[in-house]
Amino acid sequence: MIKQKPANLEQLVEPDRVHRLCYTDQEIFDLEMKNIFEKTWVYAGHESQVPKPGDYWTFDIGRQPMVLIRDKKNKVHVLYNRCPHRGIKLCANIHGNTGDAFHCSYHGWRFDLDGKLDSIPHLKGYDGTRLSLDNPEFSMLPAPRMESYRGFVFASLARTGQSLPDWLGPSKAGFDDMCDRAPDGEVEVVPNCYRVIQQSNWKFFMENQLDVSHPMVTHESTGRAALEVEDKIFKRTGERPMNYHMLSAFTWPTQRWNELLQTANYPNGHSVLGGYMALRPKDPDSLAYERALTAKVGEKRMNEILSVNIHHVIYYPCLSVQSPLQQLRCLRPVSPGRTLSEIWHFRLKGAPEAIYQRSLWYYNLVNSPSTMVNADDLENWNRIQRGLQAEEMEWLSFHRNYGQDTIDGDVIRTREGLSEAPLRNQFRAWKKYMTA
Ligand code: FES
Ligand SMILES: [Fe+2]
Repeated sequence: MIKQKPANLEQLVEPDRVHRLCYTDQEIFDLEMKNIFEKTWVYAGHESQVPKPGDYWTFDIGRQPMVLIRDKKNKVHVLYNRCPHRGIKLCANIHGNTGDAFHCSYHGWRFDLDGKLDSIPHLKGYDGTRLSLDNPEFSMLPAPRMESYRGFVFASLARTGQSLPDWLGPSKAGFDDMCDRAPDGEVEVVPNCYRVIQQSNWKFFMENQLDVSHPMVTHESTGRAALEVEDKIFKRTGERPMNYHMLSAFTWPTQRWNELLQTANYPNGHSVLGGYMALRPKDPDSLAYERALTAKVGEKRMNEILSVNIHHVIYYPCLSVQSPLQQLRCLRPVSPGRTLSEIWHFRLKGAPEAIYQRSLWYYNLVNSPSTMVNADDLENWNRIQRGLQAEEMEWLSFHRNYGQDTIDGDVIRTREGLSEAPLRNQFRAWKKYMTA
């Protein structure tokens, strides 16, 4: 039993159980920010979030204030959101347009949109000092690495390491799936997001996304209410509308979920969940969409694209992508018991409006803070955070199907949908990053 915090972090994570301190301890949280968030690739935003020169979005990588910005040559940059003079956060708002330059509101230093120092009021005062317009020390500092994958921009504060495509590995299929479904081959963000402060540790959100044994319990009441209405509509029209069906699926028996789902779990902590909803309905809107896609890519490719069987991809440590419904959620941890989540959705470029409406339904019915689905999850995580104050009970169980998954090289594949393999896999990555 560990009652004291051990010197060795490895003692906190065993293959089938995890110590409560991983979710509650400030020192461990600080190490997570330093060793995980500030070393790996973190999602900055989508290129379409900053369509015009001067457009910016601010965000944090771990504890570091950053800004995503488009310059006058249309190039996107990720810079530290910090004035090189005396340290003020240059962009104070979450997003906006900074005009043709960053202009510091304190002493008026001006920076080009790529961060280069452009002018200082009364520059003469710096004569004979080390400060000059050309000294990069006095320009805004760029993130050491920035890469975009199909419009999704990531930044890393580590100078070296795997390239973004290597780090994403086979899980990049989530981004491919979302973009390939667009007749024009790319997506654009719907330009605002829900921002929710969760009163819980960031890892609960990540674990919960592929915790398949919870929806039929946590979301049962939502599922039953939706099924009641769906059945009435079915009796009247013979149709089961998608927007109710998305929720009524929560009433399916556990065994059905167990048989339907599979996950592939990769060494960097990412997981791909296949199965669940067949999103190839045959209503007139969906058929019109199939025609629009066929017109661009041909029938064979259209069939390939729409047969991709991905429901949810988790990019450790902070991203959830539900590609067939064009949803993306990103976490920005604040403290051991506080996490900001950003909830986005996308349009498939070139697809009919009805396909966008389907994504909007899912966004509002499942992922938004105003739905019972999200609210019930948030309530669970808040209560775990409280429950883990029980110091005499030190461990969280990760035992479901432990030892029964298929090991395929460095990939862990589940045989049973309900396996907690994705959760165990996240801690495999946690341990790797934290003890590197
Ligand atoms: S802090 Fe920015 S110009 Fe002084
Ligand atoms: Fe849930």
